[in-house]
Amino acid sequence: MTRTTNSVVAHAPGRVNLIGDHTDYAGGLALPMAIDLGTTISGRRGGDLLRLRSEQFDAQAAMPVPIHDAHIEPSWARYAAAVALELQCMQGFDGSISSTLPLGAGLSSSASLEIAVALALGFDGTEMELALLAQRSEFTAVGVPCGLLDQFSCVFGRDGHALLIDFDATTIEPVPMPDELEIIVVHSGVERTLAGSAYAERRAACESAASIVGALASCSVDDLHAISDPMIRRRARHVVTECDRVVDATSVLRDHDASAFGALMNDSHRSLRDDFEVSTPEVDELVIHLTSIPGVHGARMTGAGFGGCVVAACEPGSIVDPSSFTGRGWKVRASGPARVELLEA
Ligand code: GLA
Repeated sequence: MTRTTNSVVAHAPGRVNLIGDHTDYAGGLALPMAIDLGTTISGRRGGDLLRLRSEQFDAQAAMPVPIHDAHIEPSWARYAAAVALELQCMQGFDGSISSTLPLGAGLSSSASLEIAVALALGFDGTEMELALLAQRSEFTAVGVPCGLLDQFSCVFGRDGHALLIDFDATTIEPVPMPDELEIIVVHSGVERTLAGSAYAERRAACESAASIVGALASCSVDDLHAISDPMIRRRARHVVTECDRVVDATSVLRDHDASAFGALMNDSHRSLRDDFEVSTPEVDELVIHLTSIPGVHGARMTGAGFGGCVVAACEPGSIVDPSSFTGRGWKVRASGPARVELLEA
């Protein structure tokens, strides 16, 4: 039997953020988990074309390597082109992409795709380098100045654990997910037009607040009185209070206090809705509906916002069919990191 190292299967999970949104680029805290929905790429390395078929789009893209410009059509292929560009990939690849993640819905479908592509193409480096490469690729592909929440969740995912991430100290601490907590994700039905510009605006508002009061993650709410613009102050208040909620949520999760955990998720949603203004009426309604169901401890929007998914923490069995609300919903489990397998021929 000969061993060929050019046939590969790469898999990268998506993530759901349990609490701590729009804190990563402000050097704050978040508590996401990698999930058992993700992107799988299978194919062969070699040749001088990067050729990918997307099962989800029922379409194919082919581009000669090396790639010089990632701004190509179809637009889904830009993520792959950007990764190949960042990797300075000199050899081609012929394969297919299949994904169980809803696209652009707050579950990190783009970071998952970028990381799966990088592994399939032969990325060779540390997890940290992989996360940074995917972050640069996102910017190259679609110009979104994202933080590292999605990429860290994907490359450092741990089976059965959420991850407490400190984006200032760059530490990632696995936190066991208690068996008595079921995590469900429900699509709001609102397709996120990845409000790249609204995202960049929120980030700029946080940077402008930090230029007045210093690193937001080390501020108290009282420190924010020094900010005169009420909109900038509200954005900053979200980041400051959200980081506190992440600390509290991690502590109650460790104590298996599901109802306190749920209450913090509800507070987080209100802060994202009112102070950060990244929710939508449909997402708000879904949160209200889910939290009215007996056994649901709490619910909130997850990810960048502007539509997409809601995450809820529930007593096992309290929601039998998460897809019954809008046609798209999933029970998700905390999963392991992105990986690549070299196949034997
Ligand atoms: C998107 C970005 C992340 C993070 C979240 C909000 O998912 O890619 O870096 O900012 O939004 O928490």
